[in-house]
Order: sequence, then C-alpha cells, then structure tokens
Amino acid sequence: MITDIDELKSKILGELESIKDSSQLENLRIKYLGRKGLIANLFEEMKSIKAAEKPIFGKKINELKQIVTKIVEEKELFFSSSRKKTEAFIDPTIPGRKKHLGSIHPLVQTVEDIKKIFLKMGFDVAEGPEIESDYYNFGALNFPDDHPARDMQDTFFISKEILLRTHTSPVQIRVMEKQKPPLRVIMPGRVYRNEAVSARSYCLFNQVEGILVDKHVTFAELKGTLVSFAKQYFGSNLKYRFRPSFFPFTEPSAEMDITCFVCGGKGCKICKYTSWLEVLGCGMIDPNVFKSVNYDPEEVTGYAFGMGIDRMALLKYNIDDIRIFYDNDIRFLKQF
Ligand code: PHE
Repeated sequence: MITDIDELKSKILGELESIKDSSQLENLRIKYLGRKGLIANLFEEMKSIKAAEKPIFGKKINELKQIVTKIVEEKELFFSSSRKKTEAFIDPTIPGRKKHLGSIHPLVQTVEDIKKIFLKMGFDVAEGPEIESDYYNFGALNFPDDHPARDMQDTFFISKEILLRTHTSPVQIRVMEKQKPPLRVIMPGRVYRNEAVSARSYCLFNQVEGILVDKHVTFAELKGTLVSFAKQYFGSNLKYRFRPSFFPFTEPSAEMDITCFVCGGKGCKICKYTSWLEVLGCGMIDPNVFKSVNYDPEEVTGYAFGMGIDRMALLKYNIDDIRIFYDNDIRFLKQF
C-alpha cells in the first residue's frame, strides 16, 4: 500500500510536469484533488486497512495531498500571470499610427505669401468687416447713386443699407478715417459677389487691398511697387501689362494682367483663351475719396490697388477651377 502511494506520487508529479495550459491543469486538479478524486479515494480506502498501518498511511496521503495542492496552486499562478503577460505585450515592430495633421489652405497660404512681400516693403496690415454698409462699400468710394455695381445682380444685400462687401476697398476708408497720412497698408479679406459661378469666378473670393498715401505719390511708384511685388511672387521672368481702366475711387485707373500660367499663354478656360489673366485693379486715389475721409486732396496724393487672391493661387499652384478652393474636398486639401 505504501509503495502504491509512492508510485502514485511520482505518476502525478510527472503528469503535472507536462501540463501546458490552465485547462489541462484544471482537469488534473479534478482528477486528483476533486471531491471524488484519487486522493479522496485513498482516504476512503484507509478505513479498510489495519489499525497499526493507519498512522503511516494517513501521513503519506496527507503529504501527497499537500504536495499536489502546492504544485497545482503554483501552476495556476504561473498560467494566470503568463496570460497577463501576453495581454500587455508590446510589439515594437508594428508601424506607428499615423497622426492626421491639418494643412494650411492654399488660399490662406497665398495671403500669407503676399503679406510677407508687402511687409518687407514697409506696409502694415489691417482688416475690416465682411458685412458692410452701403456707405463704406460704395458711397465713400465715390460710386454715384445710380452706379450699376450697386445693382442687386452683383451685390448680396442684407437690407437696403447693409450688404456683404463686394470688394476690400471699404477697408481703405476705415483705415484712412482712423489714421492720418503718411500711410502704407494692405488689407486682405473675403468678398462676395452675386455672379454666375464658373471655373474662374465664385460667389465669394478673396482680395488684398493696398494703399499708400503721402505727399507727391506718383503713378510710377504704383507701377514700380506692383511689378516688384509680382516678380517676387511669380518669379522674375514674369510677363505683365497694364491696361487703362475705370474705377469710381481711382483716377487714373488701370488693370494689371499677367500671362496665364495655367496654359502658358496658349489659351485656356481660365484666361478665356486670351492668354492674359487680370490679377488686379489699381490707380491713383480719387480726390473725392480723400474728401470723404477728411484728407486734403491738395495736400496728399496716393495710390490704391486690389488684387484677386484666388486667381493668383490658381496661377501659383496650377489649378484650373476656382470652385475647388471652396469644396473642402479632403483629397484636394491633403496635397498642400
Ligand atoms: N476694388 C476693385 C475691385 O474689386 C479693385 C481696386 C482696388 C481697383 C483699388 C482700384 C483700386 O475690382
């Protein structure tokens, strides 16, 4: 009987040795330590052996039970902690998760680039409201009451007197009302026009307005400043031309064209097959404008210009449809 127990002991220890996971362990635990398991059976058998042998036999079974219980407990601990180890395992070879960073919108970037050039030339930056009064948008800028630009066709009116500004020129008035000459200021911002939407025009777009007011300012200075700007922005081999034009708030007035970068001058829908792109309006500030801001037109002269940013961005980034700037299509924006 006693040798039986020793044999059983080495058999159990051998089996425990080869266990691979917690479910195998559980099976063995039930087989040996369970209520109807082998060890419980041995205690049962003890009843039928000689009284003299009972203490030795009992001691042996107790020892066996203790050893097996201890090993099972140790193994349980091992399997549960190794499971935790797998859960916390970090694989340093897995590629990191990509962080999706936003990018600067090409129009914002264009305004920033333009600002940088004018800041170098000594200009300050100012801004004004997008919702304007008829007075700032038209009246103070020398638009006659019956001027066609006031027409409902072009202007988004909010009420009879209030509208979405159609250009950044009202900011000229706001700046001149607050400051005395000499001044050199650029004024970027969004403007709105109720026009037919197409590849080259949209119901809203961006302009950068600029003014310089001082004594004895000449048209030659205006031209020099704009050509210098355009060459810095587009490159020194840029081709440009000035055409006479009309604006109520400048006299004389001109428009500046540059060769269409989109088609390289061959003709495309952006330049309307003319190979030229109009990028800005400009001129010498009209004496009536000076009067509306209480400057003396006998004392000061000045120039003003207003450029269309969207078109400059089209040219710079070689894009052939202005509407894409306002779609916010992530596939487009990601490219910048
Ligand atoms: N405000 C004019 C426009 O929107 C541009 C311009 C600005 C022209 C300043 C002359 C002087 O077309």
